[in-house]
Amino acid sequence: MSKNNRDNHDNEKRGKQLDRRRFLKMLGVAGVAAGAGMVLSKDVLTNSSKDGLVAKAEASNGMGEQNMEVKPGEYDQYYGFWSGGHSGEVRVMGVPSMRELMRIPVFNIECGKGWGITNDSKKMLKGITVGDTHHVHGSYVNGTYDGKYLFVNDKINNRVARIRIDIMETDAILQVPNIQGAHGLFPQRFPKTEWVVLNSEFQVPMPNRSGVDPKDYYGAHTIIDAERMAVVCQVMIDSNIDLAGTDYQGKYSFATSYNTEKGVTISEMLANDFDYLHVFNWEKIREALRKGNYKTINGVKVIDGREGKSDIVLRIPVPKNPHGVNVSPDGKYAVCSGKVSPTCTVVEISRIEDAYAGKIKPADCIAGQPEIGLGPLHTTFDGRGNAITSVFIDSTNVKWNLDRAVKGDKKPIVDVLDISYQVGHIMASMAETKEADGKWMVSLNKMSKDRFLNVGPLKPENEQLVDISGEKLRLLHDSPAYIEPHDVIIVRKDIIESKVKDRFNMFEYSVDAATTNSVDRKGKDVTVRLTANAPVFGLSEVRVKKGDRVTFHVTNNDEIADLTHGFALENHNISFTISPFQTKSVTFTAEKPGVYWFYCTNFCHALHLEMRSRLIIEA
Ligand code: CUA
Repeated sequence: MSKNNRDNHDNEKRGKQLDRRRFLKMLGVAGVAAGAGMVLSKDVLTNSSKDGLVAKAEASNGMGEQNMEVKPGEYDQYYGFWSGGHSGEVRVMGVPSMRELMRIPVFNIECGKGWGITNDSKKMLKGITVGDTHHVHGSYVNGTYDGKYLFVNDKINNRVARIRIDIMETDAILQVPNIQGAHGLFPQRFPKTEWVVLNSEFQVPMPNRSGVDPKDYYGAHTIIDAERMAVVCQVMIDSNIDLAGTDYQGKYSFATSYNTEKGVTISEMLANDFDYLHVFNWEKIREALRKGNYKTINGVKVIDGREGKSDIVLRIPVPKNPHGVNVSPDGKYAVCSGKVSPTCTVVEISRIEDAYAGKIKPADCIAGQPEIGLGPLHTTFDGRGNAITSVFIDSTNVKWNLDRAVKGDKKPIVDVLDISYQVGHIMASMAETKEADGKWMVSLNKMSKDRFLNVGPLKPENEQLVDISGEKLRLLHDSPAYIEPHDVIIVRKDIIESKVKDRFNMFEYSVDAATTNSVDRKGKDVTVRLTANAPVFGLSEVRVKKGDRVTFHVTNNDEIADLTHGFALENHNISFTISPFQTKSVTFTAEKPGVYWFYCTNFCHALHLEMRSRLIIEA
């Protein structure tokens, strides 16, 4: 395409977008006015008109000048850890290249690595085969990432998983009782991550049973021991709690809440003009646990945090059905994004102590309430005193100045970036740490519509890379994303790189590691230890009898980095990979007599195709 043609094409495309954008805004306003929030019809969303406006050329003034290109053989500056939504996984991306580096199966069945196929992963998944990951966060020391763990929630089955960063594999999954819609998750930031908090978005009877009036449904702020991966306690409260955050002092955790109305329909949930930012006082939680001020429900200590029942929870009124709560990197402010209100509410964390002491009202903790746009959802930070908020209905990212907001400026807007389209989470590099560096930001947009080649009725999402190093927000790149990332953290590579291993510690990770080959029988239980060294398995045949319960422990004995083998057994629904010095095990019953080849699935050698042996099931 010639430059002129390309410009025309771009302008035409931009014109269409502007047209659609205006239409969506009108729709959004009407939606809010009708009290229906952001329930948008997809039929209407995809309508477009050909005679749109032509966008004005952007001034280059104030734009950042970073280059996102990562040349062949070069590395990215950042690791991005993405949730995978209802794909149930976590993805590792390079930032700024936006290249997908790895996928980490968590709550899903994944036949590449054999997650949900091998004994270890089956034990963690306990037969549950769906999950909805929303928020990935790293473990902290002194307000920044320590590169040890990632934590991620499952909204469908109310679980929290922990991923070991050194091997980039899930190493624990915790089932949390008494809650539904396990959503906001955040680790303790200071002095280090001992606790992880988890918010339940849906209120339910506690304990769960039928025949309960919705007024007796509750939400809970669950506290999890990060090392033991066990529930410490739950604080039961009277509303849906949504996103979570923690302070930089180890004193408080935060939860936005909506549905203080305790409604079960949309209109009921939108009745009140104010909901709350809930603040949870950790010293008071410890005190309640020490004094035994809790009930045990389904084996979990449940503290009553309802209004008038304890002084653990501070309720700061925030308009209206707020969504994200994000703490500024200097630790001073918790910013709530108003969702149904066009405002962000800036809470000054240092005032919270006085509010607990009754010296000021909870509302007096609010230091500013600027107007941001229609449907503010999440806020991130550049570490230079600016906040950037995702605005769903407007389809914008809005940069605004915190200082101006707390000095009373109702419109402290620095820049507005149109995005495509309907943004959810945004995240700037290192923005959830005290080391926020204001370099890159990713805008996770829920809809891509016409931004990519058409791939059928299900479109990818659109993740847009933004250079935030200048005064203005500069859009650099669109990436399609498969169902359905919600959130991301962007972590400086030096924090992660040195922690990541090239091979497993053979016996630390599996007591069943096989360095020699053997077949042992105890009654009907047959245990096979099998080595994999390119290009051979250690046994050329294994004989078992019909009805035997067979366990294969397969160990990759190749030390060379990147030399991963696979193990797949014909007609037995078994396949997994084993990386250098890794062991995985499977157990199955030998049912049909015959000859079954097991082969290496992962290209490892010039004779990779020949890397196979036979399992013979005798009648
Ligand atoms: Cu081992 Cu291919």
